[in-house]
Amino acid sequence: MENTWRAGFRTQCEELHDVALDVEGTLPGWLDGEFISNGPGQFEVGETPLKHWFDALAMLRGFRIDDGSVRYTNRFVRSDDFRVARERQRVRRSLPGTPADGSAFKRLYHALSGAFQDNPSIGVIRLDDTLYAVTESPVGFETDPETLETTGQRDLTTGVNSDITLGHAHVEDGVQWGLAADFGNECTYTLFRRTGDRDATPISRLVFDDHPPYIHAFAMTEHYAVIPEAPYGVDFRRLLLGTPRGTTFLDAFEPREAPPRFHVFDRATGERVAAVRTEPFFIYHFANAYEDDDTIIVDCVAYPDLEAITGLTLSNLRRDDPNLPRGNFVRYRLPLRDGDVRRTLLLRGPVEFPTIHYGRYNACRYRYAYLAAADYGALPTAIAKVDLDGPTTVRWSEPGLHPGEPIFVPAPLPTTEDDGVLLSVALNGRTEQSVLLCLDAETVTERARAPLPHRLPYGFHGQFYGATDLGRSMA
Ligand SMILES: [Fe+2]
Repeated sequence: MENTWRAGFRTQCEELHDVALDVEGTLPGWLDGEFISNGPGQFEVGETPLKHWFDALAMLRGFRIDDGSVRYTNRFVRSDDFRVARERQRVRRSLPGTPADGSAFKRLYHALSGAFQDNPSIGVIRLDDTLYAVTESPVGFETDPETLETTGQRDLTTGVNSDITLGHAHVEDGVQWGLAADFGNECTYTLFRRTGDRDATPISRLVFDDHPPYIHAFAMTEHYAVIPEAPYGVDFRRLLLGTPRGTTFLDAFEPREAPPRFHVFDRATGERVAAVRTEPFFIYHFANAYEDDDTIIVDCVAYPDLEAITGLTLSNLRRDDPNLPRGNFVRYRLPLRDGDVRRTLLLRGPVEFPTIHYGRYNACRYRYAYLAAADYGALPTAIAKVDLDGPTTVRWSEPGLHPGEPIFVPAPLPTTEDDGVLLSVALNGRTEQSVLLCLDAETVTERARAPLPHRLPYGFHGQFYGATDLGRSMA
C-alpha cells in the first residue's frame, strides 16, 4: 500500500496569513463564520525528534468562510514550550512521550513542583467570547480568531484547586462544563462548571490513589455527567521515581488494578448516582449520551486496551505497516439502578473523532453521528455517517486523501437533524497538499473543496463559530 499517510506526520513551519483560497464547487451561501482547528505543526525540537503524536508543537488552522469564499491563516501558538523550542532548541517541560531537556535534578524539580507543559495542541474553546487554544495543562492561550496570534493566557484552574484542566469540555447555553485533575499521593478529578469569565465552581470530585485513570473527555445527558474510569493510566509513583532518568508519561502508562467503571453524577446536586462496572476499555472521545428511562445511552469510540495511547508513537505511525490501535464506535447502555451494562457495536473501526449536530442534540436523543474512518495505514481515509436508527453507514472517500475530524455545521433553521454540512481539513498524501472539504451532511457527498497552498500535518480538534451556530464543544 502506498504510504500516503507519512506526510501527515511531517513538520510544516510555514505560517500563512489571510490567503484567499480557490473554491471548487459551491459552498452554501448561508455558511458564514470561522472554522478554527488545532493540531501538530512541528515534530522536532532542534535536532531532537519528538516521540509521540501528542508531543508535537501546536499549530492553529483558521478558515474564514463568507459568501462562498474562504480565507486561510495558520500559526503556531506562542506558548512557553514553543518559545523555548524555537529560541533555545530545548524541550522545556516533559511532553507525553519526550522527556524535558536539562539535568536530572531539574526534571525532578519540575515534577515535584507540578510544572506542566503548556503546548496547547488538542483543540480550541470559546469562553465569554474569547477564543483559547487548549490542552491538558493549567492554561489556555488567548487567540485572536482572525490572525490566530497569541494575545495572552489564562489560568483555567482558578476555582478548582487543580494542576490541569482537560482539553475537552462541554459548552451549553454559555456555561462550560469541564474536568480538572490534581496529581499527588491522591489524585482527584473535579467536575466543574464555569460561567463567563468567573472562576470555576466545583460540582463533584472523584478521588483515586497515585495511579489514577487517564481521562480525556466525558459525556453529558440532560441531568447527568458520565465520567469514564478506564483501567489504564499514569502510575505517578513510577513516573516520579523515573523522572531523573527521563521516564515519561508514556513510559509510566500502565494497567490499573481498579475495575473499569462509568461514574454517573447528577449535574444539579453533584451526587454520584451510579458507578457501573464493565469490561476493560479505553476511551478518548464521546459522540453523545442521553437518558432513556432508567438507562443512560453512551455512544463513544472505545479501544480494548492501552495501545490506544502507547500505539501512537511517531515511529509506529510513520511505518509502512503501522500497528494502528483499533477503536470501534460502540453504544453502552448503563443501568441507573439494577441490571447489567450492555454494549453494542455501531461501526467497526478503526474510527475516531465522533461528532454530532452538537448545538441542538448534545445530551439529547439523536440519530446521526459522523466519524473519521481508516481503511489502511495510520490515518483516516474516509468520513462516515452512522444512522443510529439502523444502524447503517454512509461513507465518503477519495484515494490518497486523509480527512480529519468532520465538524457538523447546521443550516439556518434546519428542517432535519442532518440539514447542514460537514467541514473537514484533509491531507492529500499524494500531492502533499491539504484541502478544506465541505460535504453535504444529509447525503455525505462533496459540495465544495478549497485546496490550501501547502501541506498541513494531520490535525486534532476544531470548532466552527458562525452566525447560525454558537459552536460545538469538543467532547
Ligand atoms: Fe481529543
